[in-house]
Formats: sequence, structure tokens, C-alpha cells
Amino acid sequence: MKPTPTFGFVATLSTVALAQTLQGRQNATVSQFGTCKFDRTTAFQLLKASEKPVAQIKRRACSGGKRSKSSSAVSAVAPTSQSLSSSHDTSMSIISSSASSSTATSAVFVSMTDAIVTTAASSTPTSAWQPPSSISAALEEVWEHEMSTYGRPLEFKNFGYDHLMDTQARIQYCVRWDSTQVVTAEQRDKLETALQRQYNKWVEGALAGFDGFPYSTANIKIVGWATNNTALFEGNVTAGVTLYSTTTDVDGIPQCDPACGRAIHYVDGDYSGCTGGNAARYDVSLWLTDGMDDSGFGGDWGQRIGTNYMLENLESENIEILLHEIGHTLALDDFYDWTPPGVSNFIMRAGSSAEVTEFDVWMVRDWWRHLKSRYNL
Ligand SMILES: *[C@@H]1O[C@H](CO)[C@@H](O)[C@H](O)[C@H]1NC(C)=O
Ligand SMILES: *[C@@H]1O[C@H](CO)[C@@H](O)[C@H](O)[C@H]1NC(C)=O
Ligand SMILES: *[C@@H]1O[C@H](CO)[C@@H](O)[C@H](O)[C@H]1NC(C)=O
Repeated sequence: MKPTPTFGFVATLSTVALAQTLQGRQNATVSQFGTCKFDRTTAFQLLKASEKPVAQIKRRACSGGKRSKSSSAVSAVAPTSQSLSSSHDTSMSIISSSASSSTATSAVFVSMTDAIVTTAASSTPTSAWQPPSSISAALEEVWEHEMSTYGRPLEFKNFGYDHLMDTQARIQYCVRWDSTQVVTAEQRDKLETALQRQYNKWVEGALAGFDGFPYSTANIKIVGWATNNTALFEGNVTAGVTLYSTTTDVDGIPQCDPACGRAIHYVDGDYSGCTGGNAARYDVSLWLTDGMDDSGFGGDWGQRIGTNYMLENLESENIEILLHEIGHTLALDDFYDWTPPGVSNFIMRAGSSAEVTEFDVWMVRDWWRHLKSRYNL
């Protein structure tokens, strides 16, 4: 099944090498599906203390009315030129410099080496909204900030919570091998295990047992890999896993068959073009890019991080950047331009914590309690 270019770029929301792509995606999203796109694609960048902070990249659609074709809904905060030069992701500069509403900002950043980890995620979730009083004011500010900053966030229907509910917590991944490196069968197996562990830092660590969330764990399965060179794949590809080598996004970067992708079809629900049926459907992609090793992107479409960073961390208990990006898939915000009162170290404040903290946990629970009514819970 060949992808149509239109669907191709909707599938890969963070394929933003060209501002035109971004605009085209907005156009396609709005005009074809008549829906808001709530794109939480953001940058994660760890810098040395001596370097200027990088600013966030944030793109929002949905602030206009439905079927609006306005591209003014796209906003971006431009990194400083110095931070750009330290960035491995060249697409960042292109988006921000092309976005009409770009403004510079000086974000406060904590370096990796300065990071102090505070409270670890609670392993015994409470059953109701009862955050510790020490963080309740901060949580309220975060929620208000998200509600006022993003356009109609409660109407968007492709959050990680939607994936979990729709799949009964069986999340299917496509891995986009945006890499020229060899990948062994052992690494592929370990990657699935790593995703399972990291995703559950959020599901088991925050949602299980909380306020009607019905699953105690998430089961992660990689159902497809996408490459432009199958010779890089050593050993047998696991039975039931599809190796795609002919489907790419508009920028030519390998992706699994867009006909199977939730980010494209969550509105129409039409996966009839997906040859492998439900077993081949992918809810999100993990996009692994060479040379992007201290940065990442995340959104409803999945997560994008560096190939080496991922391979070097296959067995890490906490894969910091991946955890942060999964947080975006779960609708959480970045904190490059402000910090809620009284909390300074948490995974969504890039570089300030290596693991999901109690504050992160309650931010996720806040989303769940506000969204759960859409599942009749
Ligand atoms: C998106 O829509 C705008 C306004 O209708 C149009 O000018 C622009 O060419 C479109 N971009 C793409 C990539 O389709
Ligand atoms: C194949 O993919 C790799 C990684 O994305 C890229 O560097 C390379 O340019 C691609 N080759 C072709 C011929 O498209
Ligand atoms: C790979 O698959 C082939 C064909 O099914 C099989 O004969 C071979 O033993 C497999 N190799 C490994 C290492 O599992």
C-alpha cells in the first residue's frame, strides 16, 4: 500500500523539515478531517551549564474554528541562534524561523549534571483526586496554563489516554529506523522491553488504580519497523512484525504504512487500507534519528529521540528523554518558559529530573480525571 503524500505527513507530525510541510499538515488535518489538531510536538534539549538555554518549539492548531484554514494557529518559540547551533535537529530552526508568530524567549534550563531528582513516582496510587497539599497549588496553575494556552485541549481525541482506552492498554508501536546503523534482533527485542518499562512508568506509576482508570499495566508491542535499507536488519524479524521498506513520509523518511497509523485515522477510524489488519495497526511511532542524541520530540503521534541515545539506554531503568516525550503523548506540557510555584524537579521540566516524579504523576492524573467522562467513566 503506497502512502498518499497527504496522509504521509499527517502521520508524521514531527516531520517538520519544511515549514511548508507544517502548513500542509495543518491544511490536511483541518480540511480533510474537520477536526482540531492538538499537536504537542515539543523539543527536549539538554545543554551544558555554560550554554544558552534552548527554547521550546510548540505548534498548536485548533485555536481557530473547525474547518478554519488559518495557519495563524501555528505558533513557535524560536530558539536562540546559539542554542540552534548546539542542536542536532536542524528541522528545529526551519520551523521556528518560518513560523509567522515566532518570538524569542529566554528559558530557564537546568543542566543534566545539575539535575536533582526529588520524589519518585508513588507506587501506590490513591483512588481519587487528592494530591499532596504541597503541590496542589502548582497543579492548579499547570492545569489553568494548559487550558488557557492550548486551543480546546479537551476536545482533542488522540491523546495517549485515548490510545490506552481504545486498545485496552495494548499499545502498538511502529519504530521508524531513521538511521544508517545496523540493528540486531537482540536490540530489537530489548527495545520492545524498554518501551514496555518506560511507558509503564506512567501507566503503572500514575494511572493504575487512580480514579476509575481500568488497567493496571500497559502492554507494548512493536508491530512494525520502517527502514529504507532492510540489510541493516540483522537476524530474523520476529514473526508478526512487519518490516516496511517502501513507505516514507513527505521528506523521504521511512515510516510504517500510513494506512495503519492512528495519527492519521483516529478521526475516520478507517484502517481498511491496512494490509495486516488490526495486528498491524500502530497507535504511535518511536522515531529514532541518527545524530539527535540529546534532544527529542513528542506528541500524539509518538516520540522521536536519538538512535544512539536509545540504543545506549536499552536497559536503563529510566530513559529520561523517552519518559519526557511519552509525557507529551499523555498531553503534558513543557516548562521551558515558566515553573509552577514550589516544584522545580520533574521529568516534564527538561533536564531537571531523570525520572517521573510525584508531580508528573499528579499532572497525568489531572488529565485523566478531566478526560475520563469521554469513556463514560
Ligand atoms: C495551506 O493553505 C494555505 C491557505 O489556504 C495555502 O496558501 C497554502 O498553500 C497551503 N499549503 C499547503 C502546503 O498545502
Ligand atoms: C535512508 O535513510 C537514512 C536514514 O534516515 C538516510 O540517512 C539516507 O539518506 C536514506 N537513503 C536514501 C537513499 O534515501
Ligand atoms: C530465521 O528464520 C529462518 C526461516 O524461518 C530459520 O530457518 C532460521 O533458523 C531463523 N534463524 C534464527 C537465528 O532464528
